[in-house]
Amino acid sequence: MSTFYLTTPIYYVNARPHLGHACTTIMADAMCRYHRLAGDRVYFLTGTDEHGERIAQVAAAAGKSPQAYADEIAAVFRETWRRLGITNDDFIRTTEPRHRKVVQEVLQRLFDAGEIYFGEYGGWYCYGCERFYTEKEIVDGKCPDHQTALTFVKEKNYFFKMSKYQDWLIKHLEDNPAFIQPERYRNEVLGFLREPLQDLSISRPRSRLEWGIPLPFDDKYVTYVWFDALLNYYSAVSDPGNEKTRGLWEHVEHIIGKDILKPHGVYWPTMLKAAGIPLYRRLNVHGYWSLGGSKMSKSVGNVVEAFQLTDKYGHDAFRYFLLREMNFGLDASFSEEAFVDRLNADLANDLGNLASRATTLIAAAGAVAQVTEPVEDADREIATSAADARAAVELAMRDFAFQKALGAIWTFIGSVNRYVDTSAPWALAKDPAKRPRLERVLCTLADSLGFLGIVLDPFLPDAARKIREALGQGAPTLEAAVVGRLTAVPRVTKISGLFPRIDTKPASTTLSPQGIGQGEGPKGETAGKIPITDFQKVDLRVAEVLTAERVPKSKKLLKLSIRVGEETRTLVAGVAEHYEPADLVGRKVVIVANLQPATLMGVESNGMVLAAEHGGTLSLLTLDRDLPSGAKVK
Ligand code: MSP
Repeated sequence: MSTFYLTTPIYYVNARPHLGHACTTIMADAMCRYHRLAGDRVYFLTGTDEHGERIAQVAAAAGKSPQAYADEIAAVFRETWRRLGITNDDFIRTTEPRHRKVVQEVLQRLFDAGEIYFGEYGGWYCYGCERFYTEKEIVDGKCPDHQTALTFVKEKNYFFKMSKYQDWLIKHLEDNPAFIQPERYRNEVLGFLREPLQDLSISRPRSRLEWGIPLPFDDKYVTYVWFDALLNYYSAVSDPGNEKTRGLWEHVEHIIGKDILKPHGVYWPTMLKAAGIPLYRRLNVHGYWSLGGSKMSKSVGNVVEAFQLTDKYGHDAFRYFLLREMNFGLDASFSEEAFVDRLNADLANDLGNLASRATTLIAAAGAVAQVTEPVEDADREIATSAADARAAVELAMRDFAFQKALGAIWTFIGSVNRYVDTSAPWALAKDPAKRPRLERVLCTLADSLGFLGIVLDPFLPDAARKIREALGQGAPTLEAAVVGRLTAVPRVTKISGLFPRIDTKPASTTLSPQGIGQGEGPKGETAGKIPITDFQKVDLRVAEVLTAERVPKSKKLLKLSIRVGEETRTLVAGVAEHYEPADLVGRKVVIVANLQPATLMGVESNGMVLAAEHGGTLSLLTLDRDLPSGAKVK
């Protein structure tokens, strides 16, 4: 059993939790849940950073004492994580005695070892970042992060001899390529270290700032906020009397956003080295979310309350979007449209439909104690696809590559959806002679759902639990995530509405699929961009309409019989308010040919006709040169 100790940054209490904080905390939560699933000993720490100039200022502006103010906001963070289902084992506050004690011990140790001296320094300071900026880092005279004016601060203070660790740190980074990941951030830290490293001012005079931990060797000074804050990772687990945290420190990994790379990549390892405390194992750095191109941080103004969208669309959907849309290490752009698109396509359509189709079919056929029919190639392919997905998830999770892990699980979901289409259990169910094959297909489906109930657990904990409950499964373990061993079909309860589809507002002019159980409005023009490989999954073909008739009792639907190459199929299109059936016969239209069948007003539809819509007028996509039906549209 390995041990995994993961920390998030401790968040400043001068603002309420927002999407950015939620992103880091959710990533950490997914990682910890994954390690628990793998059977590891896991410890997950988050908390709040409560000292410093800025917090004292905000509290004063609110007419409160800093402690009363910090108590209030720390409680909001705690409650936020509880509501989001975050599974942290501890929540540390820098105003707690257990933390103050360790900070003072470490300071005294460094002071006694001659690592701290008294001196004077003047430089450009950002109160937002609570740090000095070097001439090189300053952009147009402003803080590069907050774009606010810097203050020239000159005062007598205590300094940590950080400069003497410059060569040591460069060597450590060169010898340990995985110390900071992704690599771009390791390179960025090596970049900082190409400039001479300054000593670090680690105190503030109490005459100017009262709100901090007093230096143990000079109580006219309080500890500089970063020196205080970074030590939380250590103070939370260094009580020798605490069984739960014993032996954790050697395994610590941090996850942070790129904004606080320098304190974590430079100050922190040099502090640890000087204090004789083992270094952290790995620093994992993610990029920044932006909203409409501008950075989403409290100081820039466009704060997004994490709950606004989680409450609207559900916690799992919110988690999924954050984990799926951000390439770990790179920046990402947040929009509600892109969120809703992902929810509809990946969660409602791919996963939700699969869960509901599979459980409906299994519930209708009933449990089977022993499946006798041997497996076929199609069943074996599903088992292989599951094994591939699990291996890919394991590889991706080593590097916090959540988007890759989810991509691999969705490849599996895609293969199971295709398996349902091609094995057509609804057709097998009509023929008693085919019952043995039906049982085998349902067994493979139950097995696949069981697999999803496990591997989705770190990413979509609520949905995964619902899937497991529907199948009567117990606590999940990664070890049990194997498809191909099940020989019975369990009794299941039907799953419906795992992720309800969200109706999107029509954009001004859009290409809109007409038909077939999609119930989906057109996608907005501002929707997230997709890679060409996503587009290539859609098989668009020219089709010739052979016959057309109204679907009884429906105002909107026409039932078409169409030819696609050699094949004739039935398709339902929502065009009856715009075209007479006779208008369509003989026309060549464009269809989505590889869509899962759907039943609409009792008619099974196999495909979707494309049309453009504007201001209530609909126009079918046709050809401007004649081509045979079945021709590929690309
Ligand atoms: N208190 C310090 C951290 C001390 S750790 C010893 C701090 N606090 S903070 O409240 O400003 O939180 C910064 C962190 O919040 C980022 O590193 C990141 O984890 C998260 N994020 C804040 N805004 C974010 C985005 N727009 N996008 C992604 N993550 C963001 O710095």
